[in-house]
Amino acid sequence: MARSRRPLIAGNWKMNGLTADALALAGAVAEGVKQAGWTDRELLVCPPSTLVMAIAKAVKGSGLLVGGQNCHAAASGAHTGDIAAEMLRDAGASHVIVGHSERRTDCGETDAVVRAKAEAAWRAGLLPVVCIGESLAEREAGRTLSVLETQLKGSIPAGSTASRLVVAYEPVWAIGTGKTPTTAEVAAAHAHIRRVLGGLIADANAVRLLYGGSVKGGNAAELLAAGDVDGALVGGASLKADEFLAIAKAA
Ligand code: PGA
Repeated sequence: MARSRRPLIAGNWKMNGLTADALALAGAVAEGVKQAGWTDRELLVCPPSTLVMAIAKAVKGSGLLVGGQNCHAAASGAHTGDIAAEMLRDAGASHVIVGHSERRTDCGETDAVVRAKAEAAWRAGLLPVVCIGESLAEREAGRTLSVLETQLKGSIPAGSTASRLVVAYEPVWAIGTGKTPTTAEVAAAHAHIRRVLGGLIADANAVRLLYGGSVKGGNAAELLAAGDVDGALVGGASLKADEFLAIAKAA
């Protein structure tokens, strides 16, 4: 892992968490961050939007970062049930995940939609974590690298730079399944993503590329050691403070 790219360990809580348990979880993670005193890595939790403000307030000063899981492309307006990047920022978020495969599938988000959301994140002063990843059928058809290339080119806005963008590679078939690609497969995907980024933005070498999909305390060291991996996007294992902190320690 290149030392010039500070590892980011991001927890995606998905649609999990009621106030009491969520505050306890965030508090335990924040305490772990404080005790470790890490300056060489960043930890981020992305709770459901109902909890962003309470958690941002609760962990303030600990060094733990807070983000959203999604945002709308517009700053405000007639979009019932949606949340603007500006609202996340107002609630205390610094980051937002965009284009997660569950949203691409559940909500039909296309690359163009994801790109507009990343632009909205910039407009609001948030750092977007743009997710891409192939399905099992695409992998089995040998199309992984071309799918990643298409998604990446379509999903990141013009004007992207290393300080304005984080990319997460999440094979759809590895999310929540306990299955992971081999480290060689992860390294190959990340190397390809960085190559493609090289044709799009000037400081591609400094962009952080996260791996996501069934990352746990037990496999984090191996996955994070794969070439061009600069951190992890963690779902299930981010709901347990010990497990999430173990992943951060492995970074
Ligand atoms: P998982 O989810 O760690 O539970 O596989 C990862 C994600 O969806 O970001």
